[in-house]
Amino acid sequence: MRLEGKSALITGAARGIGKAFAQRYVSEGATVAIADIDLARAQESAEEIGPDAYAVYLDVTDQASIESAVAAVEEQKGGLDILINNAALFDLAPIVEITRESYGRLFDINVAGTLFMMQAAARSMIKRGRGGKIINMASQAGRRGEPLVGVYCATKAAIISLTQSAGLNLISQGINVNAIAPGVVDGEHWDGVDALFAKYEGLAPGEKKAAVSKSVPFGRMGTAEDLTGMAVFLASADAEYIVAQTYNVDGGNWMS
Ligand SMILES: NC(=O)c1ccc[n+]([C@@H]2O[C@H](COP(=O)([O-])OP(=O)(O)OC[C@H]3O[C@@H](n4cnc5c(N)ncnc54)[C@H](O)[C@@H]3O)[C@@H](O)[C@H]2O)c1
Repeated sequence: MRLEGKSALITGAARGIGKAFAQRYVSEGATVAIADIDLARAQESAEEIGPDAYAVYLDVTDQASIESAVAAVEEQKGGLDILINNAALFDLAPIVEITRESYGRLFDINVAGTLFMMQAAARSMIKRGRGGKIINMASQAGRRGEPLVGVYCATKAAIISLTQSAGLNLISQGINVNAIAPGVVDGEHWDGVDALFAKYEGLAPGEKKAAVSKSVPFGRMGTAEDLTGMAVFLASADAEYIVAQTYNVDGGNWMS
């Protein structure tokens, strides 16, 4: 029960990694707003997790939606202690085929979404005067470029940078901002990634997944559950002195 009595909001928590975070946070004693653009799925996931999880509609590209999601948590739980910026979109294309539409959408959700959610959460935490914890989801993709993944990699590099700036700026208010950089995590997200690689690299479905699994030093792809320990730690009192860092949780894929 390392998060007993804490109020958390997790973006993009209707499925995948965000949902696993919500499940683990509730088991550690927190209440969790499952904030997602897919409200029906967020409601399903909240019901599955139990009464300490509740669904909130959120589109991280819409400022009014960001503000009303944070206000909903303030109203229902008296304030916000923990934010996880987890919602993101992936796309893939060779440099000569990247469209402005794809670029704009990825930067809007992954980067602007993260920044303006941090801002709204920080305003709320500062007003309440009890500090807080903000965790951003980066990626190994933010550590270096990849031939077909230029835009997504750039968004995740931007998240590592924003984590550093926000971490340095907000620690004076008692708000710790840090990030997690996963490697390759199996689930619906990676099914979509696999299909995109199949298209551009002429692979059979599942082939890319098998190849990336084999190349992880640990010996397999990660699961969403592999990430939950770090998400609990960074939100706990044990992480008070940790500021502006990005932690790799990737089975040994990357060292920094
Ligand atoms: N799965 C991986 O291999 C992997 C690796 C590294 C980093 N990550 C990062 O971890 C995080 C979670 O990944 P995942 O695999 O669970 O992804 P996912 O695609 O399964 O889940 C993303 C969630 O975000 C929601 N979402 C999309 N647009 C939104 C918007 N505008 N507003 C609010 N919610 C929105 C979706 O509805 C979905 O529930 C992401 O930031 C991702 O970049 C994932």
